[in-house]
Amino acid sequence: MREPIMARQRRLLRQWGLSKFPPFADVPPKDDPERLATLFTGRDDELDLATQPLMRGENVLVRGAWGVGKTTFILQLLHALVGEAQAVKERLLPIYIDNFRGGTLQEFHRLLLFALATALADKDDDARAIAEAMKGISISHNRSRSIKGSIEINLFTFGTAGGEIGLESVAERRIGLDSPEYWIDELLRRGHKRYEHIVVAIDDLDKTDPRPNEFLKVRTLFDQALPILRDQRCAFILTGRTLTVAQDIYGSILGLFNRQIALDPLPPEDLRAIAVKTLNLVRHQARPDAHPFSDEAIARLAASSYVPRHFNRNCADVLDAAVRLDRDRLDGAAFDECFVEAQAKVAAEVEPQIRQLLYIARKYGGISQQNRRALDELGLGDFIEILPVLDYLVQRDLLVRENTIGGLRFIVSSRAERAALPPTDVSVES
Ligand SMILES: Nc1ncnc2c1ncn2[C@@H]1O[C@H](COP(=O)(O)OP(=O)(O)OP(=O)(O)O)[C@@H](O)[C@H]1O
Ligand SMILES: [Mg+2]
Repeated sequence: MREPIMARQRRLLRQWGLSKFPPFADVPPKDDPERLATLFTGRDDELDLATQPLMRGENVLVRGAWGVGKTTFILQLLHALVGEAQAVKERLLPIYIDNFRGGTLQEFHRLLLFALATALADKDDDARAIAEAMKGISISHNRSRSIKGSIEINLFTFGTAGGEIGLESVAERRIGLDSPEYWIDELLRRGHKRYEHIVVAIDDLDKTDPRPNEFLKVRTLFDQALPILRDQRCAFILTGRTLTVAQDIYGSILGLFNRQIALDPLPPEDLRAIAVKTLNLVRHQARPDAHPFSDEAIARLAASSYVPRHFNRNCADVLDAAVRLDRDRLDGAAFDECFVEAQAKVAAEVEPQIRQLLYIARKYGGISQQNRRALDELGLGDFIEILPVLDYLVQRDLLVRENTIGGLRFIVSSRAERAALPPTDVSVES
């Protein structure tokens, strides 16, 4: 009789010396700075580059592709900054704003005000009243020990619930929050008495549709928010993907950012290190390698993975496949089999229309503005028309977006190789 899959998984995990399935993750552990610090790999220079301007109250823009590690980077940075400040006997208030879906200046001000008010509420009655009056914004506040064990870190994390910033309540009107600028200014002033540095990180300010009017919205917001963004009492660090249509709106905004940091995909040795650390999180005994993956297998996954998110997904999927196929080591032919199995699983999840698109992308070596033949075969007049779909497929890890000298190009990811096979091949082989 066939061994039940969960029994097989348990047997294999035991053989591999793992207590449970390793947590190869799509997103960083936001509420667990220790784990974040344990897994965080590379980017030392970028951390230093960001630290200097932020400690002077200046702004930093972090750019990088889908899944390259922007969120991971700024979270790690915020924790590191608290330590940096302490090292010179100063205090720093880190605020992390996630999921800002608003678009108007008013929404931006409200979120910022709410963040400041919550952060200062413990010792300031006005701040507490403001924080309590503002509804519809979700917040989590985690206190934890820092990497080195000695420093307490308060990271204030905010997201806008349901993508909306709640409407003004009666209580808010009573405190006079209809003009939030006044209170932002006031709380910044008070905050500065308690903290030498206030650093506000806004993640994914441009996580919107890659359509021109969406960029305009972001751009307009920046223009309008200049006074607060320029305020030296508060440093901002923003992340954005490399924007699609308006290649570089950020750069053009009057020196708003004192430093721009482009996060490149991590080199293969760093990806390998992430795998080793992730596996060690659930090992009975730590190891310096990525067993059950062979070195060669990990090197191949790293080489074909492009960004860390992609790499993590590939590792998890191949391990999953190893359980299904009952392979106890991931090397040579066994690894190939498992990777193909993982790709087949990806293919099975892809809708026929998308498979057609992937097939065309593969056939013409990618989809780009210049590649007329691919666009023709897709029945499209204009590259711009299909950009939202292409970006969506990047987010599903089916395509990889490359910025070449000639412009943007979307190529089929290693995970999607089988999903991009000609339709007939697929039906025969699966
Ligand atoms: N420097 C790093 N060290 C270890 N793991 C990393 C690193 N950078 C990214 N990762 C891992 O890669 C995955 C994706 O990272 P992250 O969510 O930060 O990417 P992102 O650029 O913010 O993506 P998005 O474009 O969706 O916002 C996460 O699981 C994260 O833990
Ligand atoms: Mg992110």
